[in-house]
Amino acid sequence: MTAPVVCHADEAAVLRARVVSHDQVADATWRIRLDCPSIAARAVSGQFAMLRLPDRCDPLLARPFAVYDVFSDGIEPRYADFIYLVHGRFTRALADVRPGDEILAWGPLGNGFTAPTTEHLVLVAGGIGQTALLTLARERLGLARYGLPSREPPRAGRVTLCWGARSAGMFACTDDFRKAGCDVHLATLDGSTGTKGTVVDLLDQRFAAGIDRTATHIACCGPEPMMEAVAGWAAARGVRCEVSLETPMACGIGICFTCVARIRDDEGNWDYRRTCVEGPVFDASRVVW
Ligand SMILES: Cc1cc2nc3c(=O)[nH]c(=O)nc-3n(C[C@H](O)[C@H](O)[C@H](O)COP(=O)(O)OP(=O)(O)OC[C@H]3O[C@@H](n4cnc5c(N)ncnc54)[C@H](O)[C@@H]3O)c2cc1C
Ligand code: FES
Repeated sequence: MTAPVVCHADEAAVLRARVVSHDQVADATWRIRLDCPSIAARAVSGQFAMLRLPDRCDPLLARPFAVYDVFSDGIEPRYADFIYLVHGRFTRALADVRPGDEILAWGPLGNGFTAPTTEHLVLVAGGIGQTALLTLARERLGLARYGLPSREPPRAGRVTLCWGARSAGMFACTDDFRKAGCDVHLATLDGSTGTKGTVVDLLDQRFAAGIDRTATHIACCGPEPMMEAVAGWAAARGVRCEVSLETPMACGIGICFTCVARIRDDEGNWDYRRTCVEGPVFDASRVVW
């Protein structure tokens, strides 16, 4: 059965969020903390916020960013962190923002990762895709609760992160995953750290002895070709896999249809689904790549 879809756009907060901190954390990669209580209180793993620079029209449209983690002011959730890679018009301008500046933010949006009972949760990230996965790890290892009311999904026995990037300098805040208790494994295309090759090479290596398909669940986020390869890897082994699609978005709230992906229904027929309201997380076996 297809999981019920909830449109979070109706209840998303729209606010001018103060920048609390903004630091470079890896090659061309920045971590920004926003003071945005209504987003921090509600966000669950795999959800995102649309960010826009106020009082300017270039770029005009907001961009989607996964909520990396949330922090409290000692009483209740107040701050949300985002980690982004500088590569286009918006992220280049965002890198110039200073603490004390304001950013327009609306969220949390989208349907995030489900929380099935699983012994072994395997997180698979490509490039900057780890941003969608930290809250999932922390929640499933019993370190944190997210959402309003806060949800408490069944704990996973263990969480492994397999993360692939171009080179060693691209890995940002790896220690957040280690501190959460994840077993972290890295792969780089240039061999500068970890396994030399793609994240699928890393999966082959880690699970060379086989994988218990009934006790394992994969949550994946990264560039589309990488997610397609991971989905194929999981399907070949009968392992359940969810992917968080990073389709470009214009509105983030279901109006413009910029973000559609082809998703199969229960009968195996596909139709276009809006990643911003019906995703970004989908069962990998339903995605028409
Ligand atoms: C749900 C969701 C969560 C995301 N979370 C993060 C995050 O946590 N951190 C992060 O760094 N990025 C994240 N992204 C991606 C980010 O929103 C885009 O990279 C955004 O376009 C960057 O804006 P820009 O103006 O800098 O680049 P743009 O000018 O928009 O794009 C620069 C170049 O990248 C291409 N491009 C843009 N977006 C995509 C895409 N999604 N897939 C393939 N090519 C693309 C464009 O065609 C262009 O060539 C997320 C995307 C989605 C949908
Ligand atoms: S981004 Fe506009 S409908 Fe999804």
